[in-house]
Amino acid sequence: MFRRELLKQFKGRKILVIGDFMVDEYIKGTVERISPEAPVPVVEAKRATFRPGGAANVVANIKSLGGEAVPLGVVGKDEAGEKLKELLREIGVKTDTLITDTSRPTTKKTRIIAGSQQLLRVDWESRDYLPQTIEKEVISFLLNHYREFDAIIISDYGKGVVTERLFEYTGQLKEDVPIFLDPKEKNFRFYRQVTAMTPNIKETYQAVRITPDTDLKTEEAGKKLIEEYGLDYAVITRSDKGLSIVTKDRVKHIPTRARQVFDVTGAGDTVISAFALSVAAGATPFEAGEIANLAAGVVVGKLGTATATVEEIEEAAGLLFENKRS
Ligand SMILES: Nc1ncnc2c1ncn2[C@@H]1O[C@H](COP(=O)(O)OP(=O)(O)OP(=O)(O)O)[C@@H](O)[C@H]1O
Ligand SMILES: [Mg+2]
Repeated sequence: MFRRELLKQFKGRKILVIGDFMVDEYIKGTVERISPEAPVPVVEAKRATFRPGGAANVVANIKSLGGEAVPLGVVGKDEAGEKLKELLREIGVKTDTLITDTSRPTTKKTRIIAGSQQLLRVDWESRDYLPQTIEKEVISFLLNHYREFDAIIISDYGKGVVTERLFEYTGQLKEDVPIFLDPKEKNFRFYRQVTAMTPNIKETYQAVRITPDTDLKTEEAGKKLIEEYGLDYAVITRSDKGLSIVTKDRVKHIPTRARQVFDVTGAGDTVISAFALSVAAGATPFEAGEIANLAAGVVVGKLGTATATVEEIEEAAGLLFENKRS
């Protein structure tokens, strides 16, 4: 278990979120007919809604848990970029640290939905690594400001903000501020020297060629992650099996606490947000794992990319404490 008072310490903890910021767009409507132009349905759009996606969803999770988040990434010079900033401002996040990269569009994923059926997804994005001048801006912000943060999250969705050069500095910085990385397959070749990584089952296999489907293999994979990537410890998320914390000399498998599962999208963002806030609040990795797993359990019980609050974690924890007593 974990010390309950840790949750009270989330408030005001400052987290720097470096990564790929996105806009999720949902166009909802109905289909009444087939297009005369091509054999495709015509969607009569009723409304479009927008949500922070990718690293912006990590920021939303931190805010929802009572923390402060500073977004470090890029937007294009376009409407989606303005939308993204507006979405962040709406949840009380300052956006002046987002850099405009005129060479790329703002990453936007548009889903077209009729009734409950998703018909199509349209992605606007570039997966090119940042141009050198912008990469320099990102790194100099990091080097000049890292001491102002209680933790740093690198949220890599493979769109190019997370570059090899970043990891020339993480080994030094993590001595002062814990750094947590949510990895993406294509960049395992250059990841190194962070406090911890939070791969899911598939990413763990991609990183160390071991599928963490049993506790034993998870421990083995965790040890290998620590060694090969210079981690202090590994946080392996295992979908319906919960998550495992593997340190050099201990391992803890934490079963999922989800009561119902409606939608697992974005659970990984919740895990890294709650985990980083917990460590920032003084939790051990094992306590942080318990809290992050509870937070993920709350989020998978909601429809759509969702966030959790401290009250919801407390409620879920209360049920646990009660079960223990009886
Ligand atoms: N089917 C499920 N039942 C219960 N809990 C789940 C389920 N799927 C996910 N979770 C919870 O969410 C956490 C993260 O999920 P998962 O391991 O699938 O990460 P992920 O693939 O990175 O998620 P995503 O990329 O969709 O955000 C798990 O550790 C667990 O606590
Ligand atoms: Mg993930």
